Amino acid sequence: MFAVHLMAFYFTKLKEDQIKKVDRFLYHMRLSDETLVDIMARFQAEMEKGLGKDTNPTASVKMLPTFVRAIPDGSENGGFLSLDLGGSKFRVLKVQVSEEGKQNVQMESQFYPMPNEIIRGNGTELFDYVADCLADFMRTRDLTHKKLPLGFTFSFPCRQTKLEEGFLLSWTKKFKARGVQDTDVVGRLASAMKKHKDLDVDILALVNDTVGTMMTCAYDDPSCEVGVIIGTGTNACYMEDMSNIDLVEGDEGRMCINTEWGAFGDDGALEDIRTEFDRELDLGSLNPGKQLFEKMISGLYMGELVRLILLKMAKVGLLFGGAKSSALHTKGKIETQHVAAMEKYKEGLANTREILVNLGLDPSESDCIAVQHVCTIVSFRSANLCAAALAAILTRLRENKKQARLRTTVGMDGTLYKIHPQYPKRLHKVVRRLVPNCDVRFLLSESGSTKGAAMVTAVASRVQAQRKQ
Ligand code: GLC
Repeated sequence: MFAVHLMAFYFTKLKEDQIKKVDRFLYHMRLSDETLVDIMARFQAEMEKGLGKDTNPTASVKMLPTFVRAIPDGSENGGFLSLDLGGSKFRVLKVQVSEEGKQNVQMESQFYPMPNEIIRGNGTELFDYVADCLADFMRTRDLTHKKLPLGFTFSFPCRQTKLEEGFLLSWTKKFKARGVQDTDVVGRLASAMKKHKDLDVDILALVNDTVGTMMTCAYDDPSCEVGVIIGTGTNACYMEDMSNIDLVEGDEGRMCINTEWGAFGDDGALEDIRTEFDRELDLGSLNPGKQLFEKMISGLYMGELVRLILLKMAKVGLLFGGAKSSALHTKGKIETQHVAAMEKYKEGLANTREILVNLGLDPSESDCIAVQHVCTIVSFRSANLCAAALAAILTRLRENKKQARLRTTVGMDGTLYKIHPQYPKRLHKVVRRLVPNCDVRFLLSESGSTKGAAMVTAVASRVQAQRKQ
């Protein structure tokens, strides 16, 4: 009995010591509520800057008008196609909506591979490939004889002047196809589609994945007016008053704004909170100096941040008795899914050992505890930063409505948010602490943003039909 107590005491002490050691090493990554409130204020100023006509050209947070004004009202019907390009997977989807009630949405979808040669090759080949996949989807489902409206979920920043047109401002995440920047991606897809003579597809809407997420959730909960993605990349959209959107004519009603918050800090606004690891990660990325907020948060970068920290800790003798392995030296060897596995409630520590052994290391018990805590600090910082920016959006919504208390729903999606065992809970908690005057419901988008893109298309085709009458 005494021995058992002694063991428990020893383990608790070991854990405390390891946690203290990592906390000290990464103190710069542990953001206090005071800092988060400060970041929230900075993001509010960024939103203002992005919305203003004169300030927009130099704003790093672009606040892009999406030309989405209405949420689905339930009267939509028909068959719609939807394409999803830019997330963790490339997908084609057919959505059948009928008026007989909201439960009546039927979907069939197929994932297609998106090889690196295509993502980083020639732009025309990228769109040809997308069109070929769509053609394959339609042919195998016998849809070639129908004229179907299509919604294109394209998860990159686009300057839009209408719903069915958008010029790519820059590639983000893993994409870097040549000759696409500054061109209209709807036009590019339409030209590629023309090569398939048997297909008749009308691209009615270009939709960012955040917008698709908001629309998917709004179909089930009409009070949804924000969409957030925490996946490969991170971003948010929300409904803004037209009177505050300088870049679009008219003052009536609201329009959805794609904030492109991933670029927050690209003008140096976050230099005081960025660490040596953030800088190193950025230098080794496809787009140095760009998407700096995203690089502190999203799934494409989280594993790499952890790897850089572990490598440094090993180098200064704080881990693995100073030993390193060639895998630990190799970019990309730790992925976000590993971080999520290491932070699992029960199996976390065992997973950590297995992952470290697979990296060619020989970790002690205390190494595993320390590494697990590194993961917690990195993923917690990510949730904290998202919470600060989201709290800024919620405050803006509340102020626009001139309400003392805001009740609203936020549509959520993204692989990191979905696979990390503790991420959602942490994010919700911090948001509620930062904006105590907002009652927020977080709604997980059930079937991703692609369904939302079909909904935008459905609304567009309803509006188009009404105009023709
Ligand atoms: C990147 C893209 C943005 C997208 C986000 C999530 O930040 O620039 O458009 O919404 O990733 O996929």
